Amino acid sequence: MARRHTAAMMLAALVGLLCASFVTSMGVVGIDYGTESMKVSLVKPGLPFDVVLSRDSKRKIPSAVAWKMQERLYGSDAANLATRYPGDTFLGAKLLLGRSIESVDDQARLRQSELLGSQLIPSVNRSSVSVKRETDYTINKEGSDEYTVEELVGMQLSHARTLAEETAGEEVIRTFPGSVGTFGGLDVVITTPIFYTAAERQALFDAASVAGLRPKLVSDGAAAAVNFALTRQFTKPERHLFFDSGAGSTRATLVEFSTKQVQADSILSIGSTQKEATVIQVLSAGWDRQASGLALDVLLRDHLAGLFQTQHGSKLAKPVKEQPRAMARLLKEANRVKHILSANADASSNVEGLADDIDFRAKVTRDEFESLADKAGLRSRFGQPATDALKEAKLTISDIDSVIYVGGTTRVPLVQAALREAGVPDAKIAQNVNADEAAVMGAAFYGASFNPQFRMKTIRAHDGNPYPVVLTEEGKKPDVIFPGGSFETTQVVRNYTDTTSNFGFQIDYDAAIPQAKLDTFEHRLYDVEIQEINNHLAGLKERGEIDQVDISVNVTITSRPLGVYAVESAFMHVKQKPGGIAGALKSFFNVGSNAVADDVDDDDDDEAAEGADAAATTEDADAAAEGAADTKKGAEGDETSEKSEKKDVKKKNKKSLPTDRSIRLLARSIPRGSVRPMSGAELKAASDRLYVADVEARRKAAREEAQNVLEAYIYRARDIVHETRFIESSKASEREAITAKASELSDWLASQAEEADTSSLKLKRASLESLIQPIEKRMREQGTRQGSLDRFTRAQAEAREFLQEARTNLTKALEEGVASKYSLAELDGFQTQLDKDLTWFQDGEKEQAKRSKDDDVAIKSDDIDRRAKKARDTMARMLKRRIPKTRPPKKSKTPPPPAKEDKPAEEEPKKKEENEEKPKKGHAHEEL
Ligand SMILES: *[C@@H]1O[C@H](CO)[C@@H](O)[C@H](O)[C@H]1NC(C)=O
Ligand SMILES: *[C@@H]1O[C@H](CO)[C@@H](O)[C@H](O)[C@H]1NC(C)=O
Ligand SMILES: *[C@@H]1O[C@H](CO)[C@@H](O)[C@H](O)[C@H]1NC(C)=O
Ligand SMILES: *[C@@H]1O[C@H](CO)[C@@H](O)[C@H](O)[C@H]1NC(C)=O
Repeated sequence: MARRHTAAMMLAALVGLLCASFVTSMGVVGIDYGTESMKVSLVKPGLPFDVVLSRDSKRKIPSAVAWKMQERLYGSDAANLATRYPGDTFLGAKLLLGRSIESVDDQARLRQSELLGSQLIPSVNRSSVSVKRETDYTINKEGSDEYTVEELVGMQLSHARTLAEETAGEEVIRTFPGSVGTFGGLDVVITTPIFYTAAERQALFDAASVAGLRPKLVSDGAAAAVNFALTRQFTKPERHLFFDSGAGSTRATLVEFSTKQVQADSILSIGSTQKEATVIQVLSAGWDRQASGLALDVLLRDHLAGLFQTQHGSKLAKPVKEQPRAMARLLKEANRVKHILSANADASSNVEGLADDIDFRAKVTRDEFESLADKAGLRSRFGQPATDALKEAKLTISDIDSVIYVGGTTRVPLVQAALREAGVPDAKIAQNVNADEAAVMGAAFYGASFNPQFRMKTIRAHDGNPYPVVLTEEGKKPDVIFPGGSFETTQVVRNYTDTTSNFGFQIDYDAAIPQAKLDTFEHRLYDVEIQEINNHLAGLKERGEIDQVDISVNVTITSRPLGVYAVESAFMHVKQKPGGIAGALKSFFNVGSNAVADDVDDDDDDEAAEGADAAATTEDADAAAEGAADTKKGAEGDETSEKSEKKDVKKKNKKSLPTDRSIRLLARSIPRGSVRPMSGAELKAASDRLYVADVEARRKAAREEAQNVLEAYIYRARDIVHETRFIESSKASEREAITAKASELSDWLASQAEEADTSSLKLKRASLESLIQPIEKRMREQGTRQGSLDRFTRAQAEAREFLQEARTNLTKALEEGVASKYSLAELDGFQTQLDKDLTWFQDGEKEQAKRSKDDDVAIKSDDIDRRAKKARDTMARMLKRRIPKTRPPKKSKTPPPPAKEDKPAEEEPKKKEENEEKPKKGHAHEEL
């Protein structure tokens, strides 16, 4: 296995090298997916390292999805609908990832996700959360208008991906999990709060899969730390506390920065090169899921609602709290008031026609706001994460170099005060420039740090793991497999000897983690069953030959993506005991697998096998990264391993009987948490559904565009027939035809446009264009004609002058018996061409004289120019030619050979190409 793995890595590295020489473009997309808004960044060679802008050129994109009838909207388009269609607008979906519907029902805090506007319902066949649109637009269509939270988030990630792809001019492709990096496509890194449990991480990863992404995950604190490290040198270790208070929660991440020698992982130096790197180590973290910007908004919203109710309650048909539109507007207003109160002592609030057409007017002071937060017990919660992080690392504030603010809620004075009260003096606060974008930029750089192709500062970032993970076998004490602290370990191998039957174990969060830390999530993670050992050994057992062999089993457990645990592989190794019966293993092979029988006459060429093997390994890892839950994925891997075993056996033992053998076993992981991760089939269905919706949306946008263009063209047609120049260049009958067509199309649009598809809209436009364009061409000709005539006449004159001189020189050369630039034949040929052009031109002019301005021209400017240019080019080519230096020996009266083989002559074909291309380009330009 180890050998195979290395081979695969080297192959991948090699592929990387090869690709690198062809595909210079590659990059990493960072997505900082927040509760209220998300940011997207792109790191790609040749482009400025920057945040990807939204459709309305903003650096921040509201985390929202909304529907207007059948149309799906994102970002601010969606968020703006929240107050008008709260039942069809979905915000704050991040808070619901990985949660069971029961836990959401139990918690008023999450129910506040009335900000989710909508009805929360259990997902089909799962206990997780789905949303249901208030208005069902799927009548007569398949499925219902319900979306899982994973789908809602997946849509937004898909939107982020589209924006990044448009900026990069390149598509995001599947990534290879592992450290080799991806070449020739865009990698994606998504931030998660450090406290995200396995269930939440799994749900985020599933959401990404729905969007067709296979991201790396990084905690937002670690991402901000990477961004911080990029522009700094650490001559001695430094510790900084990243205090991130956002819309959804508050986190404090304690990070140590140092400079160390690390193993270089450049693809060019596979050996053991040491390299100086900035090492980023997350030491500890504290957090509070309830201390959030949103919680403050909700507090203020309820306060405003209370004021309104007091002022106007008697006039209201229903209490304002029961009016979703009014509450959605008040939430928006509360957010605005909060921002004002961050810089002012008071704020006035003014919402027109809030409910039952009654306006709302009120004043809120900062003191009032802060006492609300105090009463709700929120204030101290904002400071606690900093205290917790320090305590966990067994450090005090004096051990810290600085505290760095990240996230919008750190601007609220009350939050800053809470930090002060928690013992962080103002002097420790770093005045950071753009901490808002630190996480999203850091995420992309973090992704790039895995890719040796980026010539950037070497960075090793070890993210934090707040929850130690234990493995428990029946009747044994739990064994810590992934310790808390840092995520340095991402893979653990368990070895078992003398295991002769199927067995199982559990993977859980350490029971020592207080429940409060896990919020509503369970300690239980997975039951794992290692299967097929019984089957494989049945024959040996039956024949009583089991003691003739040594049996060992190894199980590899990974944390990939970070914090999502999976059994990546399980192998059984069966080896003949020294001095045992030779037949034992043979019978084992016959019973255990049918692979060996095929093996005998399997004479695939070795190299092909190697290639297939390497590819298979990548697939394996891919499947494993996909998540633990799906047994189907395990089965897929099984097939692959059989292929590789074939090769192993064959290589080791082409002739004699094999003495040992490895078999991949089936590892079934059964999630024990209350929310089952999406199955492979569910993921596929969801991603197909999103894909279909995206295609449909694009189709619709194209249709709308076609309709708009047609409408605009009809208006133009109506105007243009009254323009003087157009009238001069057209006949009355032509203008009448245009007007008639325009009104016909206008009627058609009014009555039938709704049913028309893109292509019929385009055809309709073409029918009008075909009437207008010829006249526009005439108008253009009038503008260009004189210039073309002049150019042609000049070219003719100059060419004729040249010809005369060239003939003189040729005659002279012939007389002197020296080499000449020209041959008689080519000069004659040129003459003929010029004469033909002149005749064509003169005929054209005669014809043109008979025509008027409202006729098409007899000869087009383009054609005149083309002939003038051809004459000039021919002349220039001949003039540029050099007389051959080495004269042919004077033998007889044979004239010297015309300079056919010298350089300029060779360039001829190339020039021709240019000549042909130019007019085409000019033509295309005209059409625009
Ligand atoms: C597990 O066992 C298989 C079969 O013996 C071997 O190829 C592989 O390298 C082992 N894995 C680890 C991580 O030791
Ligand atoms: C839910 O489970 C039933 C029964 O297993 C199945 O027929 C159905 O397709 C499932 N629905 C979804 C949406 O997966
Ligand atoms: C398991 O075996 C592998 C070699 O196959 C070895 O590298 C590893 O350290 C062993 N793990 C344990 C926990 O003994
Ligand atoms: C003819 O010869 C003269 C004198 O060598 C030279 O200057 C001139 O450029 C030549 N003309 C052509 C058309 O080759």
